[in-house]
Amino acid sequence: MAKIIPVRPFDKVVFGALGDLAKRKLFPALLHRDQDGQIPEDTRIIGSGRRALSEAAFRAEIKQAAQAYVDAAYIEAATWQRFLARLTYVQIDAGSGQGYERLAKTLHGQDCKRPQVIYLALSPSLYGDVARHLAAVGLNRPQVRLVLEKPLGHDLPSSQAINAQVGEYFAEHQIYRIDHYLGKETVQNLLALRFGNIFFERVWNADNIDHVQITVAETVGLGSRTAYYDSAGALRDMVQNHLLQLMCLTAMEPPSHFEADAIRDEKRKVLTALRPITKDEVAEVTVRGQYSAGAVGEQRVEGYTQELGRASRTETYVGLKAEIQNWRWAGVPFYLRTGKRLAQRYTEVVIQFRQVPHCIFEKQELSLSGNRLVIRLQPDEGVHLFLMTKEPGPGGMRLRQASLDLSFAEEFSLARFPDAYERLLLDVVRGDATLFMR
Ligand code: BG6
Repeated sequence: MAKIIPVRPFDKVVFGALGDLAKRKLFPALLHRDQDGQIPEDTRIIGSGRRALSEAAFRAEIKQAAQAYVDAAYIEAATWQRFLARLTYVQIDAGSGQGYERLAKTLHGQDCKRPQVIYLALSPSLYGDVARHLAAVGLNRPQVRLVLEKPLGHDLPSSQAINAQVGEYFAEHQIYRIDHYLGKETVQNLLALRFGNIFFERVWNADNIDHVQITVAETVGLGSRTAYYDSAGALRDMVQNHLLQLMCLTAMEPPSHFEADAIRDEKRKVLTALRPITKDEVAEVTVRGQYSAGAVGEQRVEGYTQELGRASRTETYVGLKAEIQNWRWAGVPFYLRTGKRLAQRYTEVVIQFRQVPHCIFEKQELSLSGNRLVIRLQPDEGVHLFLMTKEPGPGGMRLRQASLDLSFAEEFSLARFPDAYERLLLDVVRGDATLFMR
């Protein structure tokens, strides 16, 4: 059974409230939490955008969008009413500074202890300006928490610049860099699996593991996010964040406890142990690709540049071989790959173990293969452990691989897996940064 951990009343401000992320993910996530009784009565949700919009028009627009993205069966009529009544709208031009006074008036009216979360669903190039404008109207006070979306910059200097600009006005503990993969139930389960069971940890190293594969395959294409995606590409959209986070959780040392800094310290050690890929090696250890016209299942789809409407060299596929240079992982390749418009949608971590050192079964060498642990993060969430077994019946010792399967849907009979944003949005209200980047 799901357990609800109560939170105090809070204010949540969404910059970019009329944008794709807010409509598709943020408001639906809050709506689901409201349905489950986790949003305290006096909580307010404030949308902000550049458009002039009445409160009624804003509520209508969010309702329409949310209806498209939540399963109506889960939301009661009373919840819709309660949720929409929480919504207000403040017109702000995030970059120019206009409208911040209005926001300050709305937020300063509250007691000065309730958490106030400001979510920037905006282009990261605006984060520095937004931080400055917020501070100018006193909205960097201690109870304000800022949520930043990826990608923070397009290379190291621009990323450092954004962090430095925001850091001028907000303390590090007020900043929550979100990676929604960390809010996925099954991603958190990677930690439960590794550190809640004795036997994985004993074989989780280069002595026993041949290689690791981390795949995030998508069937969707570019969609409506043309400007953003074409400037980012798969490397910045998926690899530097989601795939590297999955790699960190797979490869890190056991932290001493489940707490923000203990976990983030261990992840950081993995990242700093990554062997840099030099220019000379790029062609050998990486692949970039872009989808062209074709079919996904039965459906005919356009190529990337057709969808975009112009020429582009932005990659929609990346495959690369990473190496972690430490005692545990020396010599074990981590193959990371992700792409859009692939044949199937799935996210998986595969741990391929080595062969047994010596085969005792006559004429069975060829049928022996190393154990494989497949952690299926989505869809069909579960864990599959492939083991060698004896084929039943006469005919001597004939071996073949069979899998031991754990399906989360069957085991936990969950009606629905909560979306990653549901967990993460409330973690920010609680002030818990365990599942956020430092
Ligand atoms: C987002 C990327 O962070 O993750 C998208 O910007 C991608 O391009 C999405 O489609 C994938 O998330 P999920 O939860 O559907 O696997």
